[in-house]
Amino acid sequence: MTQATLSLHDGDLALPVRTGTEQEVGIDITMLRGSTGAITLDPGYGNTGSCLSAITYIDGEAGVLRYRGYAIEDLASHASFVEVMYLLIHGELPSAAQLSSFKSQLSLHTLLHEDMKKFYEGFPPRAQPMSVLSAMVASLSTYYDAEDDLNFVRMLAKLKTIAAFSYKKSIGQPFIYPRNDLDFVEDFLHMMFAVPSERYEVSPVVRRTLDMLLILHADHEQNCSTSTVRMVGSSGADLFSTISTGISALSGPLHGGANTAVISMLRAIRADGADYGKYVAKAKDRSDPFRLMGFGHRVYKNFDPRARLIKAAADRLLEELDRTDPLLDIAKNLERVALEDEYFIKRRLYPNLDFYSGIVYRAMGLPTSMFTVLFALGRLPGWIAHYKEMRENRDRLHRPRQIYVGSTLRPYVPVSHR
Ligand code: CMC
Repeated sequence: MTQATLSLHDGDLALPVRTGTEQEVGIDITMLRGSTGAITLDPGYGNTGSCLSAITYIDGEAGVLRYRGYAIEDLASHASFVEVMYLLIHGELPSAAQLSSFKSQLSLHTLLHEDMKKFYEGFPPRAQPMSVLSAMVASLSTYYDAEDDLNFVRMLAKLKTIAAFSYKKSIGQPFIYPRNDLDFVEDFLHMMFAVPSERYEVSPVVRRTLDMLLILHADHEQNCSTSTVRMVGSSGADLFSTISTGISALSGPLHGGANTAVISMLRAIRADGADYGKYVAKAKDRSDPFRLMGFGHRVYKNFDPRARLIKAAADRLLEELDRTDPLLDIAKNLERVALEDEYFIKRRLYPNLDFYSGIVYRAMGLPTSMFTVLFALGRLPGWIAHYKEMRENRDRLHRPRQIYVGSTLRPYVPVSHR
């Protein structure tokens, strides 16, 4: 086995080097503190591998993304979201019999306990659907036994019901119950857009596009929300409580919330006369907090493969629906101007999956407030796969260290002397 040598305090320590199946190299420092008293410092964990994982492979330099060894482009063109859920969680694509039994399990567990509907009455009318989603998912843990094997299926089946009910609540329409005769994505669209007074037909092109978008969001190895899930899950917390923390982590604008922020940015640029140069200059100005939302990624230093697929889907969907979206033109022009700019070239900043996803959601008639909820629906099988892997591998409690930089010991001063 290859070793790395660390020289510290006049001594050398041999550290084992672990190589993954795609030849990724990691220096194993498990013994570091015990042997030397020192720790590593890596704010934001940009250089830290927190686990061994067999779920998703990313090569950010080459723009490669694979789930369980399958290229994202292949899965996006040929698989369904339900197959991808199964693949991520169980490690293999399902056989026809496995797929059919998985689908029927997913339809059998879509209903919420009737009492849970009352929770929606307590949320204010303008409640953010992501906050409602997180709260509702956490409350599932009050209904089901923590160790029940059915919880994975329950979580997968119920999240879309919770999501659609949150939307209905936000617009004051009655909840539409799940229908077992519809497939996963059709059922979600039906619960979102149907009303009791009218017939609603799910558009096949919208169904197909949403299915693909969910596949593209399904996992992304140790991103902020997935690491949160592994962190919280490592304490032994139950599945529902753990997933609700993943939803909270995803809601931030630097993570899943970026898809909403991109649309606000594109709207602002349009209202300001579509002066792309001005906004690119703002993004480059260190004294200005503005960033080009939907641009840049911690891991991709090349095109995010998901962004290419989503951009093509946006073009296809608008064409099939015979619609145009001025924000799509703004986005394409902004991308062109940014990609020709030295600042973005030097830092290798490219559009990420959030840059075009909002355009697709808009074309489907989904409101901006639901964009990040859609991301959560897509990311759920990834969170579950990591939770399951972490438990099966019996990962240790996640508990990072720190370098303390506060005051040294000082005596307590009574309030009368301060
Ligand atoms: N606009 C302008 N400058 C940027 C941007 C941007 N969107 N992203 C990074 N930079 C600059 C940054 O200022 C820094 O410059 P310098 O070296 O001069 O200090 C350099 O590029 C490196 O940036 P960083 O902040 O160290 O990179 P990071 O890996 O910590 O951040 C990121 C990654 C995604 C948080 C960041 O690129 C960003 O804020 N992007 C906008 C938000 C966004 O689109 N988020 C969605 C991410 S993809 C979906 C997901 O996985 O959640």
